[in-house]
Parts: sequence; structure tokens; C-alpha cells
Amino acid sequence: MSSTIDFFISKFRENINREDEPGRYFVPRPYRNASVSFRNCSIGDFEKRRDILVNEAGLNAFMFRADMIPGCDLLSDSGTTTMTMKQWAQMLLGDESYGSNEGYFELKNKITETFGEDWQSDGENKSVDNLFIFHQGRAAENAMFTVLKRVLNGMGIKLEPKLGSGLLPMLKTRIESKLSSIKNRSGDSLDSVFIIPSNSHFDTTQGNIVDKGMVPLDLPCPEHIDDNRDFHFRGNMDVAEIENLLENEASRVPLVYITITNNTSGGQPVSIANIKRVREITDRFNIPLFFDACRFAENAWFIKKYEKGYSDKSVSEIVHEMFRYVDGFHISLKKDGLVNMGGALVLKKGSRVTEKYPGFKGSLTDYQIMAEGHPTYGGLAGRDLKGVVEGLSVVVRQDYLDARIGQIKKFAAGLKRYDIPIIEPAGGHAVYINIDKFFDGVETDDFMGVSITALLLIAGHRACELGTYAFGHYAGGKEIPPDPRVNYLRAAVPRLAYEDADLLSFVEAVKILFDHRDRIPGVNVEYGRELSMRHFKSRFSFKQ
Ligand code: F0G
Repeated sequence: MSSTIDFFISKFRENINREDEPGRYFVPRPYRNASVSFRNCSIGDFEKRRDILVNEAGLNAFMFRADMIPGCDLLSDSGTTTMTMKQWAQMLLGDESYGSNEGYFELKNKITETFGEDWQSDGENKSVDNLFIFHQGRAAENAMFTVLKRVLNGMGIKLEPKLGSGLLPMLKTRIESKLSSIKNRSGDSLDSVFIIPSNSHFDTTQGNIVDKGMVPLDLPCPEHIDDNRDFHFRGNMDVAEIENLLENEASRVPLVYITITNNTSGGQPVSIANIKRVREITDRFNIPLFFDACRFAENAWFIKKYEKGYSDKSVSEIVHEMFRYVDGFHISLKKDGLVNMGGALVLKKGSRVTEKYPGFKGSLTDYQIMAEGHPTYGGLAGRDLKGVVEGLSVVVRQDYLDARIGQIKKFAAGLKRYDIPIIEPAGGHAVYINIDKFFDGVETDDFMGVSITALLLIAGHRACELGTYAFGHYAGGKEIPPDPRVNYLRAAVPRLAYEDADLLSFVEAVKILFDHRDRIPGVNVEYGRELSMRHFKSRFSFKQ
């Protein structure tokens, strides 16, 4: 008898270890719905959506009323998480005291537990802490670069008026073109301009750096545009370029960044080997290294799955190792904090930032009090802090991450089944459809990503154009496309919100557009073409 049961157990086990097969589900989600929210509208309301899209939203996906989207709302994975029952329970337990509320101390402990012992606050000066809470990621970035620039100015660092002659020609050209646009804005001359390199900065990070008169410089690895589907760390930084930059311009570089995962490059992960190598290089020049850590847990999952030597380590152990190599990080907790609002900036105990820029921590504390609130609550309510603490417990769970990234993989496979061109392998939080390849061989207009987004809204789903409209700009009476060219439609999947079947209905809608791509109309820009961050504000109409 027992051998028969053993037989079945072995068969059940075999079943859950199978690779994905289209249309077959071997492993259930590691959670179930505890509460659901019904839509206001039905998938069949196509004419109503066309009316809203054309007459209210001006074909701009950001302006389209969310309550009229019956399908998948994949505009962003940020702040769109469905919280767990335990998180909601924590909301009721929130301590709303004005200073030093309970959630603050719980969060401090959780940060140490999640990122490692090095992230405890500095024992010697308890009044100036290492955890700075903000209402979201970009507020932390703004604080970071405002204070950094203030401190650098105070130090009176004198920079060379010319770029080093040993700079790689490609790098030199890229810096010079960035510089000229910054000089146009701020009037700064080269002898006061600092450079902040990254594998790729997110657009708000980039905006915050530029706003402070510094140069954001993306150094993605060469494989990031490759079609090599077996290379899993396309989010890496270009090691040769960062080394060359520091060999020639170290005094101009106050900090180096790595964004995990690399959202701009398709949500692609960064390997430990790459992080370690960049750390060695920054060590040689005594430059602090920072993470933009929004999707740190998803990044760790990829390391466990694909990097040699990490398959036996837990996600938490990998997170600890990743964070050993950096001096600080900022994070939008709206992603891997699993909450709807929140952000933080955290400095490591004895961080190189505080060593190198002695006024930094004090100035950051002052800034936080002025802009967000007392350091013990930042921009958040006491209950929000408790929600983050619980979110950080869930996000490093292996079963959660298997389901999360497995879902993205199935979504990507659905699109691939119909030959819809996407970035492969898919990253951790989104699928990116390549618009240029989508229209390969078909005569098209300028902003076809905007057209597809608009038609998808009529179908009942929302995605985000991240292409020639979002990243290009209009100057001197003509359209300047992004360089290097990027032209994607991003379908970012909110955490714990959708079932696979929902995403497959999105795939079917894209297929209809793909099958009839020669009939997709272009758009006229009715308003906002010349504005900064124009994709959030513009209005369009369909060309006839
Ligand atoms: N850094 C990265 C890598 C991001 O992806 C984002 C936000 C931020 C910083 C800013 O954080 O939104 O809390 O202020 N990304 C969202 C997205 C908006 O849709 O990719 P925030």
C-alpha cells in the first residue's frame, strides 16, 4: 500500500517540477484571493471607451479613467500591488504618534533583517540615523541629489575645464552631448559639472540629476541590445566603460549607481559578478557605490536561478550579499516593498558617503525634516510603515518570487506564441514589445507606440508607451528620436493583482493589432509635443 502511495507522490512531484507548457498549469499560485474588487464596466463597452479615449483623454493612456478599464491595467507595476491580508491587518495596528512611532522601529529592524547587519544604524550617533523615509522613490532621489550637490558645492572641488584625453571616444561624445543640453539649462561650465554614471538611470532619477546641474550617464553592458536569449544578465553595467570613465574623470564622479533590476533596459537583472566588479573599480578610486534598489528581490531571484554558484543560497542570503557591495541605496517601496506608497534612502553603517562627504547625513536629515517630516516617519503614516514591514517579509519568499516571475514568463510566452516581438528573455516585472520590429516591413508613422496604446485601451487594456514619444523630444522645429533608439510598449504587471488568464486576454488583444498592423493609424500630436516629460501631458488624435 505504502509503495502505491509513494508511487503517486513521486508522480505528483514530477508534475510540479515540469517546465511550463502552453495552456497547462502544473503549480497553483502560492496564495488565494481574499478580497476582490468588481469593475464598473464591461469588456464589451468598446464604444464607451472610444468616447472617453478620444473626448476625455486625448488618446493619452495616463489620462484614461482607470475605473473604465475592464481588462489588465499594465501601465505600471508601481504602487499597484494588491496587499496581503496580513498587511491590511497591520494597517489597523498603525501607531500614529507624531514622533518615533512603533512602525519606525519595526522598519529599522526589518531593514537590518532584509539587507544585512551592515544596515543597522550607526551606533555612535543615534540622533542622525541611517534610515531616511520618503513618500516615494523620486522624493528620495530628489533629496539625494539636492543634498549631494549642496555638499559638493560646499567642498569647493575644482574640476578640470576639459574632459580627460584618455576617455573612450564613444564615451566622450555621449558626455559632451549630455553636457551641452545641461549647459543650455543651467549655464554651468565644465569645471563645475559632475557626472553620475549608472547601468541605466530611471527617468525620474535622470530628471533629478539634471535638475541639480549634474550629468546622468547610462553605461549599459553591450549585451543589453543583443538578441542572445541565453544571456540572463542584460541589466549589467559596462565594466570597460566605467573603468575608463573613472581612470580619466574620477574627480568628476561623486557616486556610481547600479539600478536593480534595470527598468530602462527591460527589467533585466544585474549579476553579482557585475556588482562585485563595479565595486572593485569604485574601490580603486574611493568612490561610493549606490543601488537604485526598487526591484531588489526580483533581481536576487534571477541570481539564484541563473548565476553560477548561487542555486543553493536563499533569496535572503543573496540579497545580503548584493547589499554588502554598496554604500547606500534608495528604493521606491511601491515595487518590492509591496505597498501602494512609500520610499526610503538608506546609508550603510560606516558608509563611504559619510566618510567622503562629512556633512551629507546631517544635511539630509535637515532636508527630510523640511520636505517630508521628522526622520521617524518621513512622508508616511505610522500604519504605512507597518505595511512596508510586512511587505518586506513577503517579497523575499521563494514561492512568491517563483509565482511572480513565472507569471511574467508565461505572459511573454503567450506573446511569443503569436510571434509578437518582445525583449527576450523577459525581465522581472514587465514584458516589453519592440514597436519597430512589430511594424517590420510595414509603412508607419512616427509614434506607433501611442497608436497601439490607444487601440489597446479601446480593447479594454492599458499599457505604457516607452519609445520615440516618451524618450524623444522636439527641438528646432523637428522631432529628435532617442539616441540610442528605444521604442517599446511596456506591459508592467502589478504584483499579486492579476491571474494568468487576465494576461492572456491582453495577449489576444495585442494579437488582433499584430495581425492587422498595416491598418493601424498614426497619430497627430494635438498638444504638448515640445514640453518636458511630454508623454504624461500630451494630447493626440488618430490620423484618418
Ligand atoms: N527608480 C526606478 C528604477 C523606477 O522604476 C522608479 C519608478 C523610480 C525609481 C521612482 O520611484 O515612482 O516611487 O517615485 N518606476 C515606475 C515605473 C513609475 O512605472 O516604472 P517612484
